[in-house]
Amino acid sequence: MKKFVVGNWKMNGTTTGVQEYAQGLIQILPAASCEIGIAVPSLYLPQLSARLGATSVAVVAQDVSQFKGPGAYTGEISAQMLKDAGCTHVLIGHSERRHVFAEDDLVLVGKIACAVDAGLVPIICIGEELHIRQQGRYLEELARQLAVIERTRDLLPATVWVAYEPVWAIGTGLVASTAQISEAHAFLADKLRELLPKSKTARLLYGGSVKGSNAAEILALPGVDGVLVGSASLTVSELGAIIAGTKVALPA
Ligand code: 13P
Repeated sequence: MKKFVVGNWKMNGTTTGVQEYAQGLIQILPAASCEIGIAVPSLYLPQLSARLGATSVAVVAQDVSQFKGPGAYTGEISAQMLKDAGCTHVLIGHSERRHVFAEDDLVLVGKIACAVDAGLVPIICIGEELHIRQQGRYLEELARQLAVIERTRDLLPATVWVAYEPVWAIGTGLVASTAQISEAHAFLADKLRELLPKSKTARLLYGGSVKGSNAAEILALPGVDGVLVGSASLTVSELGAIIAGTKVALPA
């Protein structure tokens, strides 16, 4: 199965920037041997899907409302609206949503349910904070965060996308070691096999300071089905270097 490289722009970008990026991405697509998804701010999603709609690139939302709507939820964007804007996937439970916006499991379960109901594929993000890693409680914490998947497992699509992003490796330049990534992914794969019905398979992305220079090594690890990339996804050249890293990971 092809690797999945997902770029998460977070709160970055401009109308002109999206236009140029889409053009650049189209040029490198023929050489890409992986699936690609790009998550731009909601405002730019229709523009991105207009530019990339005819390609295989997945247009990904960074967040979704926990409310189905339509209705009186000022400032919210519903899953149905994201679908209407051309999205196919949505990030749910990113650490910045959990920590900066205090999203808890109840909110995340609502978001997953709304996304799936609208036909969007959720990419459920989990990861431990630094102090929890240092206290050696990280596996316990990851298991705890899987509760949202347990609670929605009957709703989820046949392929369940989960992104492991250790919070201490996000935007810090501090990438988890290959041993740390392998341990967490093997643990999560086991837990998810137990949690999910037999008809469903989990696929795991790694995220946290992935860039062109370390992507190939990470993508070559067994149990890493792709990467979720923040700042390095902001330029096509760096994203292209990460995409090139998926080739190295392919079996000979
Ligand atoms: P960085 O790649 O900038 O560390 O961000 C990772 C991330 O949060 C992707 O969702």
